[in-house]
Amino acid sequence: MVGKLDGRVALISGAGNGIGRATAELFAAEGARVAGVDLEGAEVFVCDVSNSAAVAATVAGVVGRFGRLDIVMSNAAFFPPTRPVTELDDALWERTFAVNVHAAFYLAKHAIPHMRQGGSIVLTASQMAKVGSKGDVAYCASKGALITMAKALALEVADAGIRVNTLSPGGTATEHMAANWGGMEAAEHAWGKPMHPLGRLGRPVEMARAALFLASDDSSFMTGADLVVDGGYTAR
Ligand SMILES: NC(=O)c1ccc[n+]([C@@H]2O[C@H](COP(=O)([O-])OP(=O)(O)OC[C@H]3O[C@@H](n4cnc5c(N)ncnc54)[C@H](O)[C@@H]3O)[C@@H](O)[C@H]2O)c1
Repeated sequence: MVGKLDGRVALISGAGNGIGRATAELFAAEGARVAGVDLEGAEVFVCDVSNSAAVAATVAGVVGRFGRLDIVMSNAAFFPPTRPVTELDDALWERTFAVNVHAAFYLAKHAIPHMRQGGSIVLTASQMAKVGSKGDVAYCASKGALITMAKALALEVADAGIRVNTLSPGGTATEHMAANWGGMEAAEHAWGKPMHPLGRLGRPVEMARAALFLASDDSSFMTGADLVVDGGYTAR
């Protein structure tokens, strides 16, 4: 069987859990050799992606081990607590931008020189990049930044055969979602059903399939775009 990513090497940050883990599994099933990057874990490259030097070393380590780099998915995120902006500590704002925005810049900056055969960069944004959410100013702003970052990056690297897009998931049934709401059933009830016209949270594999589309040649004429997979959250 021919996989959609046969022969490709993919680096995925935040691969230890949730959407990143589902994407790593799907990419591997489609023939990619996958370098998972996370804060900790047995089968991943351990790296805090908010640190430029650490990202540079990790990218070099991945290329050293696999010999090439074709796909980068900047997917790790920091989720600050929901609270009014007047009560948001500066440190929480700064951490949100460090993990959600600076890391995408560091990954692109350090990976692009290694993507010699062209490739695809996917930045995981959010439905919160497109609409506001009360109490989530830092998270919304950080995700919005990724959409314009992808457009600007796309222009810079188009001639090198590298495409850059964002993926904007809606609420997705990950472990941290369950932890936030005191269980998945509560998350579905309080957030999935009322906020998503399709009546539920997304599944990590549904985001992984969209990431596969962006990473593979199936989206070969797509760059600087945002792929919204949000169960209709932003359709209202
Ligand atoms: N789950 C949702 O409802 C949802 C909705 C929209 C967008 N997203 C976005 O999807 C992406 C994945 O979300 P998820 O729900 O799967 O998250 P998750 O919390 O399940 O997994 C994120 C992973 O990133 C890792 N990580 C966090 N900070 C890191 C750092 N500094 N360096 C390296 N790794 C780090 C964590 O250890 C974790 O394994 C995020 O960008 C998130 O903003 C999620």
